[in-house]
Amino acid sequence: MSAILMPNAAPTSADTLTDTTPIPFLDLVEPHREREEEFVAAFRRALRSAAFVGGPEVEGFEREFAVYVGTQHAIGVANGTDSLRFIFLSLGLEPGDEVITASHTFIATSEAITQAGGKPVFVDIDPVTMTLDPAAVAAAIGPRTVGIVPVHLYGQPADMDPLLALAAQHGLWVVEDAAQAHGARYRGRSAGTMGVAGSFSFYPGKNLGSVGEGGAVTTNDPRIVEGVRRLREHGQREKYVHVSEGYNGRLHAIQAAVLRIKLQDLDAATAGRQRVARWYQEALGDLADLDLPQTAPWAEHVWHLYVVRTPAREALRQALTSARIGCGLHYPIPLHRQEAYASLGYAEGSLPVTERVASSLLSLPMFPTLTEAQVGRVADTVRRFFGR
Ligand SMILES: Cc1ncc(COP(=O)(O)O)c(C=O)c1O
Repeated sequence: MSAILMPNAAPTSADTLTDTTPIPFLDLVEPHREREEEFVAAFRRALRSAAFVGGPEVEGFEREFAVYVGTQHAIGVANGTDSLRFIFLSLGLEPGDEVITASHTFIATSEAITQAGGKPVFVDIDPVTMTLDPAAVAAAIGPRTVGIVPVHLYGQPADMDPLLALAAQHGLWVVEDAAQAHGARYRGRSAGTMGVAGSFSFYPGKNLGSVGEGGAVTTNDPRIVEGVRRLREHGQREKYVHVSEGYNGRLHAIQAAVLRIKLQDLDAATAGRQRVARWYQEALGDLADLDLPQTAPWAEHVWHLYVVRTPAREALRQALTSARIGCGLHYPIPLHRQEAYASLGYAEGSLPVTERVASSLLSLPMFPTLTEAQVGRVADTVRRFFGR
């Protein structure tokens, strides 16, 4: 999950920036200001038509998001965990079926596997991109493996070609967890189009965020289209005709209306994030004590998070906090070492790259309206910390 969402009272304009002005980790107020009247009008339309769940706004958003991502279908659901769960349920996991995924991700990825009846198998990540290591995936494939779930973490696509090749070779499916990667590209291909399905979250802090909860499945596969539509609606094929049990997992109309407005600005917001990443690179690139995030040669990175690494993580975090600069940890305890997965029996040291990354990572402020002056102050604080 992204940051805890707090009302942000901090002034963010460069004009009012002083050395003590707080810099939030994430600003969810400023990006909504410009189109506030449109959001209010969407809410008014919903109130006056009483279209709250489903209806034309949801269908419109589904059409527009499918075009944006480049799949035949996008199916709106209640959140990005339901989208994963409904995909896995549609694929028909059997008890004991193993699904290979990263331990370095948010727990939604793996809990959706378990809740759909499968067993997550955690493997290590590539030390540079911090996404699934194809060699580790190859080593983990066994007789019970049915699928692979790459997570396009922090906005950067995992190395999909070798993963897709492994899947083809072993008859496995690939589902992309693109919760953090709206609009990201892998060798020109859009995140959410490369596997049998893609899963997106519209939690407010995501690159495309609602004003509550939301998610979507992107796919060209009729089995998944049928399954997800049925599962989000209590297993209904038509009103009160239930071909299975399901869930209450629908996207709300007001969220869809907000998402339609914000989708128009997504590419500009992504460009803003890319600009911020460039400023960080320019300001901090020479620091030998700090590993900056790298963009893989295959990636168009959409910078959901800007995650640096240093063995002095805790002290740097304190220095930033003292300077009233927000920062975060994504994620401090890898899933294979969480109490929730103790029964899977992964010992300390079993996924060494993941464990090293988890103990050294730190997310710096990253959002599209961050100014050059704000990035400068974050960078100055980091440089001072390293005595530079
Ligand atoms: C990688 C990843 N997968 C899945 C999810 C779940 O999405 P949601 O919070 O919308 O259920 C999130 C978001 O928190 C995420 O970051």
